[in-house]
Parts: sequence; C-alpha cells; structure tokens
Amino acid sequence: MPLSARIEAAVTAAIASAQGARAPQKLAHALNYAVTPGGARIRPTILMSVALACGDDRPALTDAAAAALELIHCASLVHDDMPCFDDADMRRGKPSVHRAYGEPLALLTGDSLIILAFEVLAKTALTDPTRAPHLLLTLARRTGMPGGICAGQGWESETQIDLSAYHQAKTGALFIAATQMGAIAAGQDPEPWEELGARIGEAFQVADDLRDALYDEETLGKPAGQDELLGRPNAVAQLGVQGATKRLKDILGGAIASIPSCPGEAALANMVRAQAERLTPVAPTRQNS
Ligand code: IPE
Ligand code: IPE
Ligand code: MG
Ligand code: MG
Repeated sequence: MPLSARIEAAVTAAIASAQGARAPQKLAHALNYAVTPGGARIRPTILMSVALACGDDRPALTDAAAAALELIHCASLVHDDMPCFDDADMRRGKPSVHRAYGEPLALLTGDSLIILAFEVLAKTALTDPTRAPHLLLTLARRTGMPGGICAGQGWESETQIDLSAYHQAKTGALFIAATQMGAIAAGQDPEPWEELGARIGEAFQVADDLRDALYDEETLGKPAGQDELLGRPNAVAQLGVQGATKRLKDILGGAIASIPSCPGEAALANMVRAQAERLTPVAPTRQNS
C-alpha cells in the first residue's frame, strides 16, 4: 500500500472511532471537516518513513502513531485559525473550522482531536505495553508545555520573543515527534533521531516563510503574507528571499547528513529530498513579490 493510502486509512479509522449515533452531529462533522481532505500530511509521512527505514515490525503501532500525530497537527491548525489567534478565514483551500461551524464548535473540535490522538495511542498500550508509553510521552512533550506547540503559540503573547525557542516549539516540535515516534514504533531508541526531526522542522519553517512571502492565497490554500501583516519574525524579513532560499538548502543538506545509520537510510534520504523539492517555492504568485 502506498504511504499516502496508509496514512489516510489510519487517520480515517481514528476519526470514525469518534463518531456515533449518539454523538452531537455538528461536532462529529466538524471533526471530519478539520482532518479530511488533508494537507500535505508531511508529519505522518516522515513518521512512517522513519519506521519503515527501521524495519516497521509493528505496522499497526506505526499507523496509530502516524494518525495520532496528524490529529494533533490538525487540532493545532483549528485553534491557530480562531479569532483569538490568527483569525484566518481559510485553511486547506476551504473555510476554516470556526468559519464553517462557529467558534464554540471550533474550540471543541480542536479539543476533541487532541483527546482522540491520545486515546488512539492509549489503546495501543493494551497490545504494546513496552513501546506505547514512549509514544505517549513523546507526543505529549511535543504538544504541550514547556517545549511543545502550546509553548510555541504561547510565545506570541510575550513582549520579548526568543525566536529560536518560538520556532522550535511552534514548528520543530512536531517534526521531532515525527522522527522519534517513527523510531519508537519500530522498536528503536528515539534519541539519535532528534536531530533529523529538528533539522527538517527548521527547514520547513524557512520554506513556510518563503511560501508565505511569495505565494498567493489561492496557491497556499490559506491567507498569504501573514508574517509581514502580523509583524512576525521570519526568515524572509531576516535574510531576504535569496538568503532564505540558500539557508533552506543548507539546512536540508545538514538534515540528510544527520540521518542515523539504519537499514533504510538511502530511501529515507530520498524522502527528505522529495519533501524538500515539494516545499521549495518555484515561482512567485503574488503581485508585490
Ligand atoms: C502548517 O503546516 C502549519 C505550520 C506549522 C506552518 P502544514 O503546511 O504542514 O499544513 P498542512 O497539513 O499541509 O495543511
Ligand atoms: C501554525 O503556525 C502552527 C501551529 C503551531 C498551529 P502559523 O500560524 O505560522 O501557520 P499558518 O500560516 O497558519 O499555517
Ligand atoms: Mg499562528
Ligand atoms: Mg496561522
């Protein structure tokens, strides 16, 4: 089964487990709306690629880990778009969840997806009591405080921003979760996999800054030019477009060099190259760029 089909099956199964005849129907629909159709699914792709590179001896555990990680990511996007954060009307080419369902249901959608992610992993503890707690701990650390997505979003309320801590927590954390959870699901020590996740996360942040500066809303499927508009520190403002593009290439070179030795090392390097190519903006679609 291609990776993308495997990811969709895992995510769909997780969402289906949160639906039921007695569930409030609008919230049930909103969960589905927030998660499908997906975006690039880059985090579960990395997670599964690492697991495969390490042998993927418990595929059901890998599937659960990939679904849980993507659910957390989707939840973070639902909350991030709400008026109390970025107040964004569009996400993945359609109205953001609060635009489609209203704020109370958007808040509950994010909350429900976060709980569902941990429920999916907790279930695996019954069949895989050795690896599951490590998956749970890793995901919890990269989601909450002091270094997860919550911390990342929290930095936006500080007067003095520690830029590297901000980016690490906001974006890097879930990429580290991706590489480490892939290793854990395949029975490997997660420690050597932290650097790869951190480097991919850093590259992703620079690519996202470039795309935000160069692409229009239609191409992005979400509001463009937000970094400048919201006065957020970003790689393009710091280095210019050319400088940021060079920085992206340098970080990716380092990412590939940091892949720990494992049976599927070459395939994993190809996956990182393919993702890099996909993320690097080719031609600007915004008038003012
Ligand atoms: C967007 O992430 C949020 C950031 C961390 C910048 P993605 O670009 O991976 O979003 P989707 O899942 O593909 O929509
Ligand atoms: C979103 O960050 C990342 C989260 C942790 C939710 P941004 O606000 O920078 O990303 P987009 O532009 O909305 O995807
Ligand atoms: Mg934001
Ligand atoms: Mg945003």
